[in-house]
Amino acid sequence: LKRVTVRDVAACKGKDPLVVLTCYTAPMAQVLDEHVDMLLVGDSLGMVVYGMDTTLGVTVDMMINHGQAVMRGSRKAMVIVDLPFGSYGESPAQAYRNAARILKETGAAAVKLEGGAEMAETVRFLTQRGVPVMGHVGLKPQMVHATGGFRAQGRTEAEAKQILADAKAIAEAGAFSLVVEGTWEGVAREVTEAVGCPTIGIGASATCDGQVLVTEDVMGLFSDFTPKFVKKYAQLNEQISEAAGKYAADVRARRFPGPEHCFGMPKLRDVKEG
Ligand code: KIV
Ligand code: NA
Repeated sequence: LKRVTVRDVAACKGKDPLVVLTCYTAPMAQVLDEHVDMLLVGDSLGMVVYGMDTTLGVTVDMMINHGQAVMRGSRKAMVIVDLPFGSYGESPAQAYRNAARILKETGAAAVKLEGGAEMAETVRFLTQRGVPVMGHVGLKPQMVHATGGFRAQGRTEAEAKQILADAKAIAEAGAFSLVVEGTWEGVAREVTEAVGCPTIGIGASATCDGQVLVTEDVMGLFSDFTPKFVKKYAQLNEQISEAAGKYAADVRARRFPGPEHCFGMPKLRDVKEG
């Protein structure tokens, strides 16, 4: 395999930090591919690309379309596709059916699903049948209606214990890596020490074995809401707005297109002779 594999990722536990970014499109994949170990086609695309308020409306078809785009645009990174809400929670069989469809139709190497101990049986079912699974514990955006909002998890002793138990259950069920989202450092460290697979933190401190962020957040391309844990490395929204403003002014002043952007007039003879 020419791409990063599940085994490569698992071997990074306790060694090299794993670099992960979300990715939804081919051109972004082309830019990010050389810099990351994994590209995650996250169901966050519902909010980031489609303007939804939550991730719940995302479908398997949407994930497949974007998974295909990211595979086409990348060569080296391992591509992981999120199982969206409603596509795996019913039963291991339902999860396998949708996960297999995603792997077959996109060529991606793995799927990610949110959940703790209650999803362990499903994770085992998938991994034993050739579908590598990345887990996702802590803040689980697909649980937004149950939790009443996107807020940090593990703030009470009971919640912290639950996250640790969830992480262990998912790792023992065979997950090759585990996203730990939106929890404080103490919980992230305990989880990272307790599980045999690499933990990928988002809003979960530097104690994790790797980090993931939403690329549009990192690049300043998504401004509806920026969580505390995001570091902005660019302000592309501002650059795009500036460029669009210049284009608009040029068109309105008839400065664009210039002669260099226009096709030359054909010689009459050429036209006649066809
Ligand atoms: O959907 C997503 O982008 C994610 C990551 C933020 C972990 O699940
Ligand atoms: Na997600």
